[in-house]
Amino acid sequence: MAFYLVTGGAGFIGSHLTDELVRRGHRVRVVDNLVTGRRQNLAQAGGVDFIEGDLADLAVARRACAGVDVVLHQAAIPSVPRSVEDPLTSHQANIDATLHVLLAAREAGVRRVVYAGSSSAYGDTPALPKTESMAPSPLSPYALQKLVGEQYGQLFMRLYGLETVTIRYFNVFGPRQDPSSPYSGVISLFITALSEGRAPTIYGDGEQTRDFTYVANVVDGVLRACEVPGVAGDVINVATGSRISINGLFRALRDLIGARVEPVYAPARLGDVRDSQADITKAQRLLGYAPIVAFEDGLKKTVDWYRSSHVTVA
Ligand code: UD1
Repeated sequence: MAFYLVTGGAGFIGSHLTDELVRRGHRVRVVDNLVTGRRQNLAQAGGVDFIEGDLADLAVARRACAGVDVVLHQAAIPSVPRSVEDPLTSHQANIDATLHVLLAAREAGVRRVVYAGSSSAYGDTPALPKTESMAPSPLSPYALQKLVGEQYGQLFMRLYGLETVTIRYFNVFGPRQDPSSPYSGVISLFITALSEGRAPTIYGDGEQTRDFTYVANVVDGVLRACEVPGVAGDVINVATGSRISINGLFRALRDLIGARVEPVYAPARLGDVRDSQADITKAQRLLGYAPIVAFEDGLKKTVDWYRSSHVTVA
């Protein structure tokens, strides 16, 4: 048994990590400012040590890291368009808070920090799938901020010996993804619109593609990265290795939900990446990772969850 800190642990991905850590018998502390996270997301985990606070405050990061063995740094404002609208707030949440977590983890003698990186770091580099050795090319403040966070982690390892591992996420989806903001992930927005009989908006021509990853796959990859030896300093994609267009996603969800609406097309978003698909051979080699839930099964589970939860008004 180890003592884990999950930053952003009341959020979508963080709460799934927390659930699994608790299920495995670990001691868990969560720190969350509840800006995008919700206390309700921790209802299933029960009994976690909860700190409501903002990691943009170094004192909060210190309190959160005290006594901890492993930090899963998930806290962020995870939106490309929001970062384009308001780069400063996003910078504070994604870079300043990350530096505070690294400083506090180092002071507390934390064994390893596993950082939530983002596929957005690849930008529009032409080759597919994206391998970790490709030079990054961020197209938005969010992408740049997530990249800086992983590089900060590597620097802390080189300078101070703090073990850090970055897992680059690719469009994660699943239960608890909050659909309530225009900046929410596309799957949560499409499911809620279709369930309510509203027309989803597709930005651009809808032929842009993504490697949509069901959240249980990410949980599996991240928890492997906490324990496997020899990966400190590495950056590792965790995804499915396939891709689907936004038009294809729309059709799949419309069929699943049995809706009859057509999408509304709007101009492409600033900072939007055209195609995204992960090469997952490094995760296979270093972490023994393989996707455990296929895209189609994940979509079904997610639709079922939105139907049975009180998040939508469907
Ligand atoms: C990006 C990152 C991802 C990161 C996520 C956080 C890439 C490839 N991925 O995702 O790593 O975790 O930000 O938010 O950069 N769309 C619509 N209609 C909508 C909403 C979105 O058509 O109502 C389109 C977007 O224009 C985009 C795609 O769907 O082309 C996915 O959008 P979104 O779910 O917001 O995630 P990304 O921006 O791809």
